[in-house]
Amino acid sequence: MSTAAEDRGRLLVVDDVPEILEALQRKLGARGYVVFTAPGAPEAIKLLDETPVDVVITDMKMPHVSGLELIRYVRENLADTEVVVITGYASVPDAVEAVKTGAEEYLAKPFTDEELFTAVRRVLEKLQARRAAERLPAAGDYSRYGLVAESEVMRRVFRDIEKAAATNATVLITGESGTGKELAARAIHYASPRAAAPFVPVNCGAVPEELLESELFGHVKGAFTGALETRAGFFQTADGGSIFLDEISGTSLAMQVKLLRVLQDKEFYMVGSRRPQKADVRVTAATNKDLWSLVEKNSFREDLYYRLAVITIDIPPLRERGDDILILTNVFVSKYSRDLGKKAPHLSDKVIQVFREYNWPGNVRELENVIQRIVTMTEKEVIDVPDLPALMRHRAMREANLTRTLAEVEVEYVQNVLASVRGNKTEAAKILGINRKTLAKKLKGSTGGGDEG
Ligand SMILES: Nc1ncnc2c1ncn2[C@@H]1O[C@H](COP(=O)(O)OP(=O)(O)OP(=O)(O)O)[C@@H](O)[C@H]1O
Ligand SMILES: [Mg+2]
Repeated sequence: MSTAAEDRGRLLVVDDVPEILEALQRKLGARGYVVFTAPGAPEAIKLLDETPVDVVITDMKMPHVSGLELIRYVRENLADTEVVVITGYASVPDAVEAVKTGAEEYLAKPFTDEELFTAVRRVLEKLQARRAAERLPAAGDYSRYGLVAESEVMRRVFRDIEKAAATNATVLITGESGTGKELAARAIHYASPRAAAPFVPVNCGAVPEELLESELFGHVKGAFTGALETRAGFFQTADGGSIFLDEISGTSLAMQVKLLRVLQDKEFYMVGSRRPQKADVRVTAATNKDLWSLVEKNSFREDLYYRLAVITIDIPPLRERGDDILILTNVFVSKYSRDLGKKAPHLSDKVIQVFREYNWPGNVRELENVIQRIVTMTEKEVIDVPDLPALMRHRAMREANLTRTLAEVEVEYVQNVLASVRGNKTEAAKILGINRKTLAKKLKGSTGGGDEG
């Protein structure tokens, strides 16, 4: 069902100035492209979620959500879409940042029609060459909001996400580490009427206790030593949008009282101020701990627990998702091959079997990491069991030896990740989604097992 214009390319132009949108649509349309438009990043993301687009041409500076956020979204979610970014007059830092984030080309204002056409043509040519070389599997067939999934258990999660998106209720997202809790929180935001306002993630476990309050609620000038200016917090930044409180179990009891107040009364106080502030913010929170058992141990407030868990969404572990493992494998193999400019390798049947039987303690993050490592390290066309990380290889040889404790598995995974980044702890902590302190603790618990297996 493709027309001549479809063959030339499908473009999406994003700009908050209607006149610019119209002009670009007219000019590019006259050249035979199919041109969609969106007045902002959230609208663009909605459209991209529904319809395939070859090239997104976006302005950098837009109110609410910047072009950079949009580039990030495209790079994280759409393997087969390129971005051309329009930066302000001679704004070198903007252009550098945009390209670093994943824009393929940038156009500095003011630009001529010829420069515009050339940039679009160049990016489309690159895209077509790549498609021809790789025959990319279409990730978009399965994914919504960056969550790649087909299994029945995950379809149920999608249904829960959509139900939650239609309300303003607080959502508690639970699930093992690396299952996609943050992606789910983003999905709720972008599927909700709040999509046009910011999504603000806060890692409560990583921000030091003394800072968290002022980060969340802001502070007034002179509130504490070093508070030279009045500064807004995340709740002000997220006004009209959503705030995501990650690792909620990491908050102190004192902080929990303040969070309870903002959830109950939609009010908070900036540090150093007695004047209550209003916030129209949807709160989502996530934890990979059993929050209820923390309530029973009195380290998490019961009243806050109920406030957070108005809706709960439990993200199932990867090992319970059946063929999703294979779909995700394909998506990650093509993503990393593409990033590295390599031809996508093929995984042997034996490897696929190991993937299916392995219990993935680090879930999707671990799978992504394993694939990234394989694609980076190998030049082979076919990946076989000896190419797998030691942990999985042993697993394959030992067959179903399900006798190890979770702690043992965790230690081994942590060490594998660390080895994969040549001992770089900052990088390892990033991959594991924990802070360096937690990593140090986990490593300490494993001394003596440091030799190569
Ligand atoms: N269904 C999925 N499809 C594609 N990528 C996914 C999916 N689930 C998770 N990921 C990827 O796995 C990584 C971990 O996801 P995310 O950060 O959302 O997990 P998490 O549950 O918040 O983990 P943690 O408990 O460690 O904070 C990310 O890189 C994310 O993009
Ligand atoms: Mg997370």
